[in-house]
Amino acid sequence: MTALPEAGTELSGRFPPDFIWGAGSSAYQIEGATTEDGRGPSVWDTFCAVPGKINDGDTGEPGADHYHRLEEDLELMSSLGLGGYRFSVAWPRIQPEGVGKVNQKGLDFYRRLVAGLLERGIRPMTTLFHWDLPQALQDIGGWENRDVAGRFADYAALVADALDVADWVTINEPRTVVDAGHVLGIHAPGIADESRAYVVAHHLLLGHGLAVQALRAGGPGRRVGIALDLHPTYPADDTPEAAAAAWRQDGADNRLYLDPVLLGGYPADVLEWVAERSPVIGHIRAGDLATISEPIDLLGVQYYTPAFLDGEGQRIYRYPRAQAVWLEDHPEAFYDVLMRLARDYPPVPIVVTENGIATDEGPDDDPVRLRYLQGHLRALSRAIADGAPVAGYHAWSLLDNFEWAEGYRQRFGLVHVDFATQKRTLKASGRWYRDVIRHNRLL
Ligand code: FCB
Repeated sequence: MTALPEAGTELSGRFPPDFIWGAGSSAYQIEGATTEDGRGPSVWDTFCAVPGKINDGDTGEPGADHYHRLEEDLELMSSLGLGGYRFSVAWPRIQPEGVGKVNQKGLDFYRRLVAGLLERGIRPMTTLFHWDLPQALQDIGGWENRDVAGRFADYAALVADALDVADWVTINEPRTVVDAGHVLGIHAPGIADESRAYVVAHHLLLGHGLAVQALRAGGPGRRVGIALDLHPTYPADDTPEAAAAAWRQDGADNRLYLDPVLLGGYPADVLEWVAERSPVIGHIRAGDLATISEPIDLLGVQYYTPAFLDGEGQRIYRYPRAQAVWLEDHPEAFYDVLMRLARDYPPVPIVVTENGIATDEGPDDDPVRLRYLQGHLRALSRAIADGAPVAGYHAWSLLDNFEWAEGYRQRFGLVHVDFATQKRTLKASGRWYRDVIRHNRLL
């Protein structure tokens, strides 16, 4: 009898037999066609139109023209051997005014996408909100308005009823909507006001919980969760000040979202910190936390970078960075965050919904991306061997795309897109990923 290899050593580089290898995208970043087939305007269309907000004045047009190149992109996914594809539905295609009657043409696009995936044996994972709120809802206050959470649940239910999909993500990265969209104002809707931002945080979480309930009520076979961007935080030195700063940042970035969803309450220290900045406590009603902590079937983990903080709370960069200055290549932190979830929270199946790096290399050779992916998949394999319940991984991103305020300059794709001709070319990292998928292990 062969002895079992010690966890985390021989098993490194291997993955469970039913592991799902995927890639991800989001509607506004790739679709283009922002005025076609009855789509209404979103907050991102409005924000992009404000001079100076987006690098080079870029907008969601043409994106990767995915709306018109659906068949070609499905074939591309097939040629990569993807087992899963995570995409988002543009709410303004479905309800151009944010409420009421459904725009069937918008829904038909996603019906075709899902049918094309299923025909090719690719498991769809649908995100319901990846930041492109209908502008009409922003006009009534956006996520600051509690009603929007209820409208989101209505929209979620009607999309779920129309699409033959098992895996659902309610909200993509509420933290980014809060911090980039409402504290810093560098993302749509471009508000820089902490007092409003944390009210938005609560309503996003409430919208998540209401959507989980709505999706459950409509289909027992569905698996529903939320996608959180988690940032492992570490003190940059040995001082108690740095330790305190790292813990505070962990509160704002991670526990503010993880604890209400998985433990049913905001952590006391985070609530105190938030209450100094925002009247959010007045917006938390009886029953809200029970709704927010409605059990989920999967937790989407988006991991890109650690954050090391000094005693002043300033970020100290230690590891290699590429095009995106906030993103350090440090796979060990990916391992840490997965193990921390298993240690500090009730067990819930994890799906890595995003992981990747922006570089302007390739398409023939993209060693920086390759090194990042190799390191992170090795860390993931080790975490699984050490007990982290991870069922799948989605590289960010399938295609180069519109990277929000950075426009088209920052490229995260496994596939290079020439935005002038829309020609797609598989990068070296994409070819390597195809082999990983084929062998279900790192070679
Ligand atoms: C995440 C977003 C995704 C993409 C990556 C790089 O925050 O969810 O759309 O922009 O970062």
